[in-house]
Amino acid sequence: MKKKVIITRNILPDGLSLLESHGIAFDVNLSEKPLSYEELMEKACNADAIISMLSDNIDQRFLESNPHLKVIANYAVGFNNIDLMTARALNIRIGNTPDVLTEATAETALGLMIAAGRNFKGANSAVNDGRWKNWGPKDHLGFALRGKTLGVIGLGRIGMRLAEMAASAFKMQIIYTANSTKENTFGAKIVSLDELLSQSDYISIHAPLNASTKHLIGKDQFQKMRPHSVLVNTARGEIIDQDALIWALKEKLIFAAGLDVTEPEPLPLSSELLKLENVFILPHIGSATFEARREMSILCAKNIIAGLNGENLISEVK
Ligand code: GLV
Ligand code: GLV
Repeated sequence: MKKKVIITRNILPDGLSLLESHGIAFDVNLSEKPLSYEELMEKACNADAIISMLSDNIDQRFLESNPHLKVIANYAVGFNNIDLMTARALNIRIGNTPDVLTEATAETALGLMIAAGRNFKGANSAVNDGRWKNWGPKDHLGFALRGKTLGVIGLGRIGMRLAEMAASAFKMQIIYTANSTKENTFGAKIVSLDELLSQSDYISIHAPLNASTKHLIGKDQFQKMRPHSVLVNTARGEIIDQDALIWALKEKLIFAAGLDVTEPEPLPLSSELLKLENVFILPHIGSATFEARREMSILCAKNIIAGLNGENLISEVK
């Protein structure tokens, strides 16, 4: 009998063709919304594998109810939505999609540095609200990037790529936090988190979400930042204590924030963040280029094919 994969959202077709050419059947959720936990549970009971999204909650109960699954290929580099310990205990292989989305996500972070640092939100809303009456020499002022210090929290693949772009295009000095020093060609220096917070003009978060990074940036950390600093997050919303961020933005402890991720997602319309002019928010589109999403679709399919053959995945989370 053909092996069967549940694909929880309608991904770009490149990976689907690959599955087809390997004789693997799939059931794609063609609707515009995620499957509920119970819907996915019901579908998983007679499937061999899943291509999951970062919004699917693959927890202990889900995995223990589906120990027959061979592989779950997450359509994301992050895997905080999956209970790895339980998956490991049940011998269910877990895949993710690093590398192929590095460029797209680094570009999103750079875009947010500029959008937040140059006050695009306030300026754009003046246009949309009819407050653009004339040209003003002191209207919508922001800060330049050139020559400033960028602090990268987590110099992994994405953080490194952003640092390279910032150093080469804007001659920024790079400081970073990481578990170990990282070789680089642009003089980036490893520092403590406190040093990074107090020395950076721009701060960009590129750490995975786990127990040690949840609410890593809270009230104490905002108090160490420079008042003209710009905080960017393209990693996971939960790394920032969002109430503390709202407080810091209101109290002008920092100049602005650019967020591609929030807590929760989607962000409710009632969120105070949406009322502030100095925060520019995107709906988690870090990897949303045609190029990256195509490669992610292919990599997920390759992970499924390998896993169903009982082989190590192309990109396996251990
Ligand atoms: C996106 O947030 C990802 O982890 O790929
Ligand atoms: C992350 O996990 C990366 O690719 O930086």
